[in-house]
Amino acid sequence: MTRDRFQSLDPSTPSDRLEHAQRTGRPSWPLGATGLVYGGDYNPEQWTRETWVEDVHLMQEAGVTMVSIGMFSWASIEPRRGEFHWEWLDEVFALLHEAGIRVDLGTPTAAPPAWFFREHPEARVVDRDGRALGPGSRGMACPSSPAYRLAATGITRALAERYGDHPALALWHVHNEYGAPVGESFSRFAQDAFRDWALRRHGSLDAVNAAWGTAFWGQAFGVPEEIHAPLPTPSMQNPSLELDWRRFSSEQILECFRAERDVLHELTPHVPVTTNFMAHTCPNIDLWKWADEVDVVSNDHYLIAADARNFVELALDADLTRSLARGRPWMLMEHSTSGVNWQGRNVAKRPGEMARNSLSHVGRGADAVMFFQWRASLKGAEKFHSAMLPHAGTSSRIWREVAELGAQLEELADLQGTRVHADVAILWDWESHWAQDLPWRPADDLSHRAQIQTWYERLWRDHIAVDFAHPEDDLSAYRLVLAPASYLLSDAAARNLEAYVHDGGNLVVGPFSGVVDGEDGVRPGGLNAALAPVLGLEVHEFCPLRDGDEARLVLDGKPLRSRLWCEDLQLRGADAIGSYTDGPVAEGVAATRHAYGDGAAWYLASDLDVEDLAAMFSGPYLAAGLTARDLPEDVELLERRAEDGTRHLIALNHTAQPVTVSVDGAAPLEVPAGGVATARVPASVTAG
Ligand code: GAL
Repeated sequence: MTRDRFQSLDPSTPSDRLEHAQRTGRPSWPLGATGLVYGGDYNPEQWTRETWVEDVHLMQEAGVTMVSIGMFSWASIEPRRGEFHWEWLDEVFALLHEAGIRVDLGTPTAAPPAWFFREHPEARVVDRDGRALGPGSRGMACPSSPAYRLAATGITRALAERYGDHPALALWHVHNEYGAPVGESFSRFAQDAFRDWALRRHGSLDAVNAAWGTAFWGQAFGVPEEIHAPLPTPSMQNPSLELDWRRFSSEQILECFRAERDVLHELTPHVPVTTNFMAHTCPNIDLWKWADEVDVVSNDHYLIAADARNFVELALDADLTRSLARGRPWMLMEHSTSGVNWQGRNVAKRPGEMARNSLSHVGRGADAVMFFQWRASLKGAEKFHSAMLPHAGTSSRIWREVAELGAQLEELADLQGTRVHADVAILWDWESHWAQDLPWRPADDLSHRAQIQTWYERLWRDHIAVDFAHPEDDLSAYRLVLAPASYLLSDAAARNLEAYVHDGGNLVVGPFSGVVDGEDGVRPGGLNAALAPVLGLEVHEFCPLRDGDEARLVLDGKPLRSRLWCEDLQLRGADAIGSYTDGPVAEGVAATRHAYGDGAAWYLASDLDVEDLAAMFSGPYLAAGLTARDLPEDVELLERRAEDGTRHLIALNHTAQPVTVSVDGAAPLEVPAGGVATARVPASVTAG
């Protein structure tokens, strides 16, 4: 096969290919992967050759089309420095290729071998307390270590030279889950790099001092050498410094990705490159900065076992991943067939739950469904983690469900390349998250994440499709934009939101928003100065409640409750739509609407729960022409649309009772308890 042949097999839609190729000159989907991709992580170095043969046979039986290999294989490929053992990997490649299974080849840089750490003890990750973390586990070395960076690009180059032209190679999978378990390192390399980074970012020592407000508490740096990382301190660390440290750490790790990716692009420009994100579950990485750096967005998602309605959090994660992919097809790179092994109680999935989870990702734009891992390990840290081929073997329920899912995804092949459409965007910004969750805030438990999840769940329950967007993105395509937790807003973001509303948009802003600038500094002019003009109000004081207290309010004629947060508002043009009836700001305004330009901006100065938020959102829904859909509780109806107008529907029933879901233009869908039903509505019906 030639390289051209690979390219002609790229099955993403013509417009995807064109857009991606124009931007990057590279393919945007695993080469040769047709339909929906199905498979998982395969770690063959644990097994004998006989097992590989059986594995490949069983993969075919299960409908597997692609596997990810090599992410942790460095020590098996290069057991001693410079001594390469390729034969086993050559053979695995050959077996997979013969079976028509595509290969997603990992660079093994999340697990440097023992010899590397023996030769370079200085490359170990150093934690905040100054402890150098030992080998014997996994997780990268210090991302700022020159020796690590050199070794990582070296092994990447060796792999690309060996397998770059292999006909089974479909995709590069750089590293594994950047940002976890290593999100920061306090090595001397990192501290030196941080000093240079801070001087570059702010332009001079004086500018660093100004940006971090070091005049307060006598922290001013007299010479650059005094700039330090946020090491343990007797009291609260400088919050602006902490925020910059988070930015720096995310960028250091991104530099590691770029270095490997650039080697791959240089040697194999015909092969797309991904790295597996953990969309909202890894807080260390600013994925908006990463998403444009990959050819294909891929994501790992694991259910929170302790949460009985964890399918809502799954939905949020999948919607965020699609948004990072800017609506293009994305890959669910890992999830689990049943329980994981790293939570407190690792709850097994119920019959049908695995397929329901998988199809929930697909309904939100995933064109690949992959698992960790193919065959359950006998040894090592993850031997109690579920797998596609569990310890109980092929007579198990899990295996039967794995094979059934493979067949089901094959039937849904024409979903590939279809799109999810959303009229609503929720603002999401890692920088704001980092800043809001720093210590010494008005209330520690006004959590950025919880605010967003609550607002998201209101839309989830109303069956309104949602994208996520960065506050500086072009928002003009959305009928409604929600900013549940925009504590930090850059000047550009504040102008963007103002322009969105001015030009006819509908914006709803949550409490404790527009408070600080990009350096975690309160702007002169009040506690919400960035948003005061568009909201038509000033926030004069934050008034959190005592633990256990509540404040009652009335909004849209409905009695509601705040459990955590109130604010003292002064209106400057906005109309009150809700007021407190008791609590610290009794008689004060709790919610507002402000007509601004051709649009309107709403503000909620309280923490409402999911039920109570319905009253807040009714006005914005009306203005945006959105209607909550009436479906049984905990049932979802997802839609993907093809370029020819065909609608692909996926109904998910998270309850223990069968349900009937009515669908415009098609027969009602009968969805079994805990199950899934799908339908295609042809374009002719949609148009008619
Ligand atoms: C992921 C990781 C996999 C595996 C999995 C277990 O975070 O990428 O290698 O450890 O967790 O749930």
